Amino acid sequence: MISTEQEYRENLKKHAAAANIRVESAIHADLSRVLNECDPLLQEIINYAVFSGGKRIRPLLAIICSRLCGRDDDDLYRLAAAFEYLHVASLIHDDIIDHAQQRRGRKSLVAKYGFPSAILTGDWLLSRSMRLVGELGGQLGLTVFCQATESMVDGEFLQLRCVANPEATEEDYFRIIKCKTGNLIASTCEIGAIYGGASDDEREALSLFGDKIGTAFQVVDDLLDYKGNAQETGKAVGNDFVEGKITLPFIRAYAQADASNQALLQQLITGDRQSRQSYQQTHNLITTHEGFASAEKTAQALIEDAKKALHLFHQHSDQESLTVLQALGQYILQRKK
Ligand code: IPE
Ligand code: IPE
Ligand code: MG
Ligand code: MG
Repeated sequence: MISTEQEYRENLKKHAAAANIRVESAIHADLSRVLNECDPLLQEIINYAVFSGGKRIRPLLAIICSRLCGRDDDDLYRLAAAFEYLHVASLIHDDIIDHAQQRRGRKSLVAKYGFPSAILTGDWLLSRSMRLVGELGGQLGLTVFCQATESMVDGEFLQLRCVANPEATEEDYFRIIKCKTGNLIASTCEIGAIYGGASDDEREALSLFGDKIGTAFQVVDDLLDYKGNAQETGKAVGNDFVEGKITLPFIRAYAQADASNQALLQQLITGDRQSRQSYQQTHNLITTHEGFASAEKTAQALIEDAKKALHLFHQHSDQESLTVLQALGQYILQRKK
């Protein structure tokens, strides 16, 4: 029986490590089967993109959700690979949009191979992910998957509309992150549940769980963009500010600020955002107006909601999988990378 936080963490580590070995081998097997016939440069780039030290959270979620609903077999790991492919495709395209030079501690794909290769590699991975989900998740799985992918694109458009606009609201922010991250993680959990043979109630509960942890995941990512350490995150710190992205710490600080500090924040976000001094000044204003502390509280509340969504499984026979999902929620809050 698992009772302390330390035991939850250890249990998560143990399950993640074991699942990851099978995911890596499923990815290797899948790629070696289909890449053999492809252009050598495409082969090289896919390997660069996929085997670069990602946390593999999405495959793990799909696996645990399926297990919780009663199914664990070899094909589950191929299905799990599809979520990593979609995720990596979205990161490759995201780094083009965000002008990001660093990803997973090394050059972003676009910085290393240029635009045409980055666009095409993202397309290839997206297509491969759809093929696997269609094969293993059926028509329903594919519909859920495509809805989430379409919503991600929609979220990115709203984000573009909000660039450098200090009047962007909290409602805009949550809509953006639900679309671009929450729905994808929700669909990962939901398709895992569908594959596992979930009842409608179980499917709905796991989708809600994914939505809440996915939204929290993005809030924490946005905090790490200001407060993280590039050595750990593997990405440049401060890039959201440079790109004019209005994230939760900024929105909360702006709401607390008096008229003169609001004017200052407005100037900073619409001014020369390459300036280190402007970034530091914005960081300081967010700190003094408790924007970081307030966003952290929101992430905690979302994780509490996520855990509540799992209540349906409290009497379930597979308590081990349930504790892994609960521990993942905690991990998302405390992560440094
Ligand atoms: C980064 O996701 C993109 C977001 C949705 C915030 P991860 O932090 O899971 O990235 P990797 O896969 O570990 O590199
Ligand atoms: C990206 O959000 C979410 C995606 C849909 C890929 P971010 O732009 O914050 O992700 P990072 O910080 O570059 O990983
Ligand atoms: Mg980005
Ligand atoms: Mg980010």
